[in-house]
Amino acid sequence: MIFSHLATGQSTTHITTSTAPSIHISSSAYPAYHYLNVNMHNTFDPERSIPSLTGKVILITGGNIGLGKASALALCTHNPAQLWITARNPTTGETAVSEIRALAPKTVSVKLLELNLTSFASIKMAAKRFTREVGGRLDILMLNAGIMGGDPGVTKEGYEKQFGTNHIGHVSINKSLFLKLELT
Ligand SMILES: NC(=O)c1ccc[n+]([C@@H]2O[C@H](COP(=O)([O-])OP(=O)(O)OC[C@H]3O[C@@H](n4cnc5c(N)ncnc54)[C@H](OP(=O)(O)O)[C@@H]3O)[C@@H](O)[C@H]2O)c1
Repeated sequence: MIFSHLATGQSTTHITTSTAPSIHISSSAYPAYHYLNVNMHNTFDPERSIPSLTGKVILITGGNIGLGKASALALCTHNPAQLWITARNPTTGETAVSEIRALAPKTVSVKLLELNLTSFASIKMAAKRFTREVGGRLDILMLNAGIMGGDPGVTKEGYEKQFGTNHIGHVSINKSLFLKLELT
């Protein structure tokens, strides 16, 4: 996760993004910045600092709103082959897809994947559809979706809701897709 990691980083360097005006981060804790070619002494600029993503396949969980959508909007202009976002609600998901498509180069395929992290059946179905439509390639998997607090509750499999969504759900989808990341 690029942006949510930014938000929780330790303080040593000042980074600015369009969605989070002032963020501090420790460079050693975040090797992803080396990939992103970020000079830790300069201002982070998604337009300049993110390299070309030509040919890459990206999947962002929870891409319909918030940091996930902001990440999709920042990444889509760097020309990936496919950019997938997930959402529980197809309506908000399709609205985000339209916004991303409007900003991305015409060659970028932007797609919505329905996913509810509180249900193993939903995770399985999402991973199956993604595999069927994309095949073996996966370059960037951003496990961004999540909740904090809210009403008490449990997932379909009986895990406490926040733990089940943020951790168990993501471990499960990661398990289904990790081999693609490794082989890509
Ligand atoms: N914002 C911060 O400063 C901050 C700081 C530390 C960590 N984080 C973490 O960074 C992530 C993104 O934060 P945010 O501020 O962008 O949050 P947000 O605006 O509330 O968005 C959360 C996203 O997670 C999705 N989601 C929630 N429950 C889900 C479930 N059961 N299955 C699938 N998707 C689900 C939401 O989809 P729906 O629209 O369907 O609900 C939404 O797309 C979260 O994991 C958050 O805990 C954020």
